Amino acid sequence: MKKKIIIILIAIVVLIQFYPMEKPTVTIDNPNDLLVTSKVPENISKLLKNACYDCHSNESIFPWYSNVAPVKWMLYDHISEAREELNFSNWNSLETDDKADILDDISSMVLEGEMPIKGYTILHSEANLSEADRELIATWADEMLDLIYE
Ligand code: HEC
Repeated sequence: MKKKIIIILIAIVVLIQFYPMEKPTVTIDNPNDLLVTSKVPENISKLLKNACYDCHSNESIFPWYSNVAPVKWMLYDHISEAREELNFSNWNSLETDDKADILDDISSMVLEGEMPIKGYTILHSEANLSEADRELIATWADEMLDLIYE
């Protein structure tokens, strides 16, 4: 009986792998990327790369488990949604007002501890931001917001 259940479970896991789902595309060369087009201090760019770029850029890195259903259903969705809200790879093609809105959001989301989303940091310890890191990102975003309208 136990054996039967295990075989059925394995069969389900194998079968769900065939459910079609489009993987978010990955491009490494992004001429409009924030870090390419703006002067971002090294420490900030490192924090953004480590804690945000997997979801909010075209440079997402997909570890093996991220391509296995059912994990991939959630991850692919998260990444597509995250890129829709904010994609650092398209930064320079955004309107000034949109950039301003996003910088304002970045500052508050990071200070309130809402980003990076919980769960991500369990498997990505480098994305675990300290209070000081959060302050650094927020201050940078606020300063950049001031500069945008100059
Ligand atoms: C594991 C994926 C993931 C990571 C990593 C991540 N985000 Fe997000 N982010 C999302 C998703 C999904 C959304 C859209 C849904 C939502 O708002 O919760 C989002 C939304 C946002 C928004 C828009 C919020 C709004 O609703 O106005 C901002 C700004 C943002 N993230 C900033 C960041 C910053 C800054 C980092 C890095 C410190 C980061 N995110 C890391 C997944 C992620």
